[in-house]
Amino acid sequence: MANVVVVGSQWGDEGKGKIVDWLSERADVVVRYQGGHNAGHTLVIDGVSYKLSLLPSGVVRGKLSVIGNGVVVDPHHFVEEVKKLADQGITISPEVLRIAENAPLILSLHRELDGIRENANSGLKIGTTRRGIGPAYEDKVGRRAIRVMDLAEPDTLMSKIERLLTHHNALRRGMGIDELSADALHDELMQVADKILPYIDRVWYQLDQQRRAGARILFEGAQGALLDNDHGTYPFVTSSNTVAGQAAAGSGLGPTAIDYVLGITKAYTTRVGEGPFPTEDHGEIGNFLGTRGHEFGVVTGRKRRCGWFDAVLVRQTVKTSGITGIALTKLDVLDGLDEIKVCVGYELDGERIDYLPASMGAQERVTPIYETLQGWSETTAGARSWAELPAQAVKYVRYIEELIGAPVAMLSTSPERLDTILVHDPFQD
Ligand code: IMP
Repeated sequence: MANVVVVGSQWGDEGKGKIVDWLSERADVVVRYQGGHNAGHTLVIDGVSYKLSLLPSGVVRGKLSVIGNGVVVDPHHFVEEVKKLADQGITISPEVLRIAENAPLILSLHRELDGIRENANSGLKIGTTRRGIGPAYEDKVGRRAIRVMDLAEPDTLMSKIERLLTHHNALRRGMGIDELSADALHDELMQVADKILPYIDRVWYQLDQQRRAGARILFEGAQGALLDNDHGTYPFVTSSNTVAGQAAAGSGLGPTAIDYVLGITKAYTTRVGEGPFPTEDHGEIGNFLGTRGHEFGVVTGRKRRCGWFDAVLVRQTVKTSGITGIALTKLDVLDGLDEIKVCVGYELDGERIDYLPASMGAQERVTPIYETLQGWSETTAGARSWAELPAQAVKYVRYIEELIGAPVAMLSTSPERLDTILVHDPFQD
């Protein structure tokens, strides 16, 4: 049985929700392995829309769903998301959901710190989701995080909180804000402890058991590879590794468990938050793509920046994530355009390059080199076979495949599940 990793191949918001849902129906286990509730996945099942941020998409279909150790867990948000789903008739129990005992927690002090930094006039504005993701990961690598299992040991929890506050209260003094009391933080955590503890598990062991039993495992990536803390547009990135390799470290299964990497790729490019975006279009085309593509963030409601497809970026992601095939989404947004541009390379300081340079300054200075293709007047929306696509649309898809060096495994032509052209089922690899 093949195990599949799904990653966003751009800056997130590639339309992963629909593809992940399609795959999770076929999977036995669905695993989140990085990020937290900064993600926003919308699933539409039988006309009902479910919005998930922290929970793996499998919960909606009753599949065993796992929050891996690589995820940062806000316990208050967890309780809220479970309640929201219960209100929609989806009951979450430890039968269907397991949380890695060693996953670090996002605390209210992390959320506060994220907001303070984003509001500050000095320093670097990232345009984060303000959910405390970055500060929580900082404490994880700083070896002072509170982890989910600590909630089961109130005594050691207190000493861990005191250690954590030694760091945070020093920071808070420096910022001129109130210091926090260990007792208050302890009480806050104890209030949610019994709501989250029933779900904790030795996830690495559970997944190994599942794998040995022949289960199909779907690793559900959040954000996109260009927001990766190492390989993305640093420092305008998220605080986790979003490339496919993280599926192994963030779940506790070794890399040999991964058989297929599916890169979800939008037929044009979008980004939320700050940072370089070579093909961003501030004019008519950017507006057209944003309006036609409903490009507003699920989590923050922010308007997304839009531009033409950038093959340089996706070609790089194909390599850094080891993408086997892509799921191309939102092709129908391009319907009716006279011509369509594709970025095939960059110019940097008078020279042509075919990669995204690593330095922040160079990333700001690159200018795109475009090839122009003829558009199509017919609609591709709802197409379920290649034969239903206009010849020019097929040409566009083939050109993208050639430029990025990966084949299209799935082509999504509308938010509807069935409006998908399946070339290759990743689980059948
Ligand atoms: P953070 O993850 O909240 O720290 O935000 C860091 C950057 O990642 C910002 O540019 C956010 O807009 C971006 N980001 C975080 N989560 C998502 C997502 O799910 N989709 C798209 N962008 C995201």
